[in-house]
Amino acid sequence: MTIGIPKEIKNNESRVALTASGVFELRQYGHHILVEQGAGKGSGISDVEYEHAGAEIVTNPHDIWARAEMIVKVKEPIDEELRLARAGQIVFTYFHFASSITLTEAMIGRGAVCIAYETVEKPDRSLPLLTPMSEVAGRMAVQQGARYLEKPVKGRGVLLGGVPGVPPGRVLILGAGIVGVQAAKMASGLGAHVTILDINTDRLRYVNDILPPHVVTQYSSQYTIRKLVQTHDLIIGAVLIPGAKAPNLVTRDMLKTMRPGTVIVDVAVDQGGCVETCVPTTHENPTYVIDDVLHYCVANMPGAVPFTSTLALTNSTLPYIINIANKGWKAACAHDPALMKGLNIVEGKVVYQGVAEAFDLPLHDVVEVF
Ligand SMILES: NC(=O)c1ccc[n+]([C@@H]2O[C@H](COP(=O)([O-])OP(=O)(O)OC[C@H]3O[C@@H](n4cnc5c(N)ncnc54)[C@H](O)[C@@H]3O)[C@@H](O)[C@H]2O)c1
Repeated sequence: MTIGIPKEIKNNESRVALTASGVFELRQYGHHILVEQGAGKGSGISDVEYEHAGAEIVTNPHDIWARAEMIVKVKEPIDEELRLARAGQIVFTYFHFASSITLTEAMIGRGAVCIAYETVEKPDRSLPLLTPMSEVAGRMAVQQGARYLEKPVKGRGVLLGGVPGVPPGRVLILGAGIVGVQAAKMASGLGAHVTILDINTDRLRYVNDILPPHVVTQYSSQYTIRKLVQTHDLIIGAVLIPGAKAPNLVTRDMLKTMRPGTVIVDVAVDQGGCVETCVPTTHENPTYVIDDVLHYCVANMPGAVPFTSTLALTNSTLPYIINIANKGWKAACAHDPALMKGLNIVEGKVVYQGVAEAFDLPLHDVVEVF
């Protein structure tokens, strides 16, 4: 199969959908890989490295879209890309269709086979292509939080690890899922005192088993949160209710009860945030202050560490890419129920319930497209 890897064109997106090692692996199966010139630059992968691995470097993205039977990307197609997708062409990427009618209508119109990373779902309901980015964001939340707790950038002026004779900083984590546990791991590693909340007691048991004793688990409730925000330096929002907006666990009136310079990192911002005062920000302008509380609400945190994120993402996507390339999308989906769940729009037909419901579009049974 001919596989195309265009350069990402979304603002500040430096990740790339395939590494040189991924190219090498696909070449072993006899596939032909087209990589757009400079596509890997932001992630530290040069054109020469891709060529050595067996890729053909293509200067014009139009040629890639025209020649490839499968396009593999990181972010959803935008601008001109929306007009380049072809009928029957496989497009494998993060789509997040339910958040954009423009994208949904465009991809229906193009007749491509759209397989969305974010809806590939294993039988245990885990999301294998979302997990690596949650792991990155969870770890980064502590790194960013520690930085913004410094006084010159309007934080309280607290060193998370403390020093001998001085107590460590206190980190409150809302949600003990992928993001929450990774954040707890980092914060406890720095020596901070960590409190982590969830409504799922199995998750709290898991955290209690695997993390050190200075990570304290507590059942999440409005009452508990209201009390804890007053005594913690860094608050990390990491809740998720699948398919719904994140609940407002930290309300506006709570800000006044926090100590000046408290830092909130609301990782759940991409689902509307779990802090009432959360507004999406960007890497160029990541923070704002309300009631002396510093908010960091960047919606694409992994984009800031592309060297790490590209590898983390492609470690997870490569087995699926190989499978689709070897078998074709129909056989690959038929043999793998997780990948089947990734089918969102197939040759103009919406086959994913969440997308049909979001825009009141007809939902086609996935068997219709086989
Ligand atoms: N900003 C970014 O760049 C970025 C990157 C990756 C993930 N995210 C987002 O981070 C959020 C968390 O992702 P995840 O992969 O950890 O999800 P997850 O499903 O693994 O974990 C979410 C946890 O929240 C818990 N929860 C639900 N309601 C709660 C409540 N009222 N109080 C406490 N806990 C509650 C759930 O029980 C679950 O354990 C999601 O919104 C995800 O989209 C953002």
